[in-house]
Amino acid sequence: MKTDTPKTILLSEYTPPAYLVPSIDLEFRLDPHATRVTAVSRMERTADTPADAPLVLNGAGLKLVSVAIDGAPVGPDRWLQEEERLVIRKVPAAFELTVVTEIDPAGNTALEGLYLSNGIFCTQCEAEGFRKITYFPDRPDVMARYRTTIIGDPAVLPVMLSNGNPVADEIGEDGLRHITWEDPFPKPSYLFALVAGDLALCESPFTTMSGRDVSLRLYVEPRNADKCEHAMASLKKAMVWDEQAYGREYDLDIYMIVAVDDFNMGAMENKGLNVFNSKYILARPDTATDSDYGGIEAVVAHEYFHNWTGNRITCRDWFQLSLKEGLTVFREQQFVADHQSAAVSRIHDVRVLRAAQFPEDAGPTAHPVRPDSYIEISNFYTSTVYNKGAEVIRMLHTLIGPEAFARGMDLYFERHDGQAVTCEDFVRAHADANELDLGDFFRWYVQAGTPEVSVETRHDPESRSFELTFTQTLKPTPGQPVKKPMVIPVRTALIGADGAPLALRLANEAADAPEADQTERVLVLEDRVTRFTFADVAERPVPSLLRGFSAPVKLETRAEDADLAFLMGHDDDAFNRWEAAQTYAIRVIHRLIADAAAGRPLVLPADFRDAFARTIGDDSLDPALIAEALTLPGESYLAETMTRIDVEGITAARQFVRREIGRSLEGLLLEVFDRLAAEDAGKPYSFDPASVGRRSLANLCLAYLGAPGGTAGLERARRRFETADNMTDALGGLLVLADQEDALSQPAFDAFYARWKDEPLVVDKWFMVQATASRANALDHVLKLMEHPAFSMRNPNRVRSLIGAFAASNPRGFHEASGRGYDFLADQIITLDASNPQIAARLVGPFKRWRRYDDQRQALMRQALERIAARQGLSRDVYEMVSKSLA
Ligand code: ARG
Ligand code: ZN
Repeated sequence: MKTDTPKTILLSEYTPPAYLVPSIDLEFRLDPHATRVTAVSRMERTADTPADAPLVLNGAGLKLVSVAIDGAPVGPDRWLQEEERLVIRKVPAAFELTVVTEIDPAGNTALEGLYLSNGIFCTQCEAEGFRKITYFPDRPDVMARYRTTIIGDPAVLPVMLSNGNPVADEIGEDGLRHITWEDPFPKPSYLFALVAGDLALCESPFTTMSGRDVSLRLYVEPRNADKCEHAMASLKKAMVWDEQAYGREYDLDIYMIVAVDDFNMGAMENKGLNVFNSKYILARPDTATDSDYGGIEAVVAHEYFHNWTGNRITCRDWFQLSLKEGLTVFREQQFVADHQSAAVSRIHDVRVLRAAQFPEDAGPTAHPVRPDSYIEISNFYTSTVYNKGAEVIRMLHTLIGPEAFARGMDLYFERHDGQAVTCEDFVRAHADANELDLGDFFRWYVQAGTPEVSVETRHDPESRSFELTFTQTLKPTPGQPVKKPMVIPVRTALIGADGAPLALRLANEAADAPEADQTERVLVLEDRVTRFTFADVAERPVPSLLRGFSAPVKLETRAEDADLAFLMGHDDDAFNRWEAAQTYAIRVIHRLIADAAAGRPLVLPADFRDAFARTIGDDSLDPALIAEALTLPGESYLAETMTRIDVEGITAARQFVRREIGRSLEGLLLEVFDRLAAEDAGKPYSFDPASVGRRSLANLCLAYLGAPGGTAGLERARRRFETADNMTDALGGLLVLADQEDALSQPAFDAFYARWKDEPLVVDKWFMVQATASRANALDHVLKLMEHPAFSMRNPNRVRSLIGAFAASNPRGFHEASGRGYDFLADQIITLDASNPQIAARLVGPFKRWRRYDDQRQALMRQALERIAARQGLSRDVYEMVSKSLA
């Protein structure tokens, strides 16, 4: 807890470490309240460090027991213990430092450092958790070899794990087990891990491409031993994929994953010993949805991919976080596209980007992919660093092409293996491997904000030319008033009247130029205005721009509704077919919002309804893509498309479209739902793209049918909820019932809880469905659920399911005009800040857009933020989010 104004850390103030630590021996004598940690480190002063430079170690919340140098005790006259540092004076150039500290894992509610989750000792050290274990230069450019001895009672803690391989295991004279692990790879402290507890093991062998045998080990609480299969299969797929796609294989003899229930984030890539939020490991068809299965496959792969992009090559400092996260998310996205439906997975990437990253880029905490300052680094595990960071890598891949990208990656691995590097080093590897100048491209790392690109088209039948003129603008963001133009790859096709893409010859190219008969090209915008002229275009084509979402920009299209409907039916880029449907839906919703505001009656345009009906009824299309095309843009993205967010208008217009579709297309929706349900009846659950697509379309039909509350739809929802043998379908039914009046929804909620009360991840769903249900008294319902015996402020998943879901995804409840929703959230942030600052700071998110609402809501949200800001002893985490939001 800090009372003075927290300090801002600047990238420009980076200095290399004064002392390096080639190796460290750790000993943990485990005890829930008083774990004793003995750290013996080799310390070496670097050549550039003056001889009188003190040794400065990071440490927070530690009880310091003793310090010794080369075995001789050092008294407090030689060291200074500050709140978050230990400064030791007069140290030799090379020596062995022994530090003994005592920590309290049971009292660690921040879930950073060493803590207990359901009686399991576990660690989370990224970014700066290692300093809560011992005094150490806790920064990623200090890489050490770790040897870790864990001492504990084998009856209570039958499993005791750390990074690397076990090298000694014995019962000591104290009657306790002493097990020693050794990790041969030097690593930064944030990749250290320790786990001890009563865990069940699921083991499976794997042979790498060079023929090395690896033991894959999944550790879960014994009651979850039946939910490991999917995670294990996902891990193997990821290992094979990284060998094939990047030529990278695993490098230790054991790969361990431990699932724990209490975890601040999704998962952590500690070397050889990943620790996961159990949500991203545990799955059984009746407890996990398709989206959970997909999330597990993606996150297991993500953490595995970090072994090369993150662990073997790590970050020099935390400003470079996207070096590993953006790149690893990109690799994860490529992997998912290769294993699930490629088009659907790209659509999901873009949905996440638009729902989370675009608002961030447009708000008070906008920051570049490579930030240049922070107060608390935990606040920078953001959608910008992760998802926009991945888009930046994708653009590089698009601009230089897959072969050049592969050469760049190979050089990156070759040049930097074993090092802690910067984003510049990454881009330079690609530039050097391909003899390219990527200087302007690097602006994507340093300029915040989402570029807006508008396009004008001109067809001249006389000269048979077609002109595309792009104009880009990048609005100011905090600290960046003026920006330079970005390098924007726009993947482009021109669709002819017959629906086929045209050959694309630029006017300045010879007719026999090799690229001149391609039907898709990457146009690169490098200036504020860039014009392209195509030759031999006889008739006005419909341009298909930014195919596959080739750049994270807002493209303002002037296409007519009819062109959008045309692209919905004809674009040979599946992503852009979906995009046309989204753009069309956004337009329709905007017009309805305007109608509602002007007091005009709402009418669903017949053309839109017909385009919708044609898509549902088209059985030549992949059901998964139909479902994506017909899912309306989410409220968060819709809000992003409005200068002044009209809360009631968005909800009302979106609801109106849902109800009208459900009502006017009832026959068609019932037919499709019944056909899909019949096809799947009696088949065992399988997580494959075709089955997932069928379930997703069936559930979407059900959602539309339920929107107007027609009996045929509700009857099917109830039946699906009651009889489904898998969680995807059961939840599909429950979500429909949840929005109905209490007489219909309450019995369903009660039955669901009675059946699943012993499965925490399913209980999370129970909270979440209720927290996000659209009902008049949503907040009262949430307040009642806060009192439920199953609710706990100590479990991050539970907090996210109830409080987080309500604030982020129940606009009607959260933005209640009285401001009660805001008061509620502020109260929860204040309470949580005392126990878990990271989770508290995340909850500030929904307040960040406060300036975009109407005057009354602005005033109320601002008051709520000011009430938080006025608290004494706020954590750095919450302080940073709140003060930046108010600035
Ligand atoms: N590196 C982890 C990942 O795979 C996330 C760890 C985040 N930790 C934190 N304290 N914010 O994305
Ligand atoms: Zn990651």
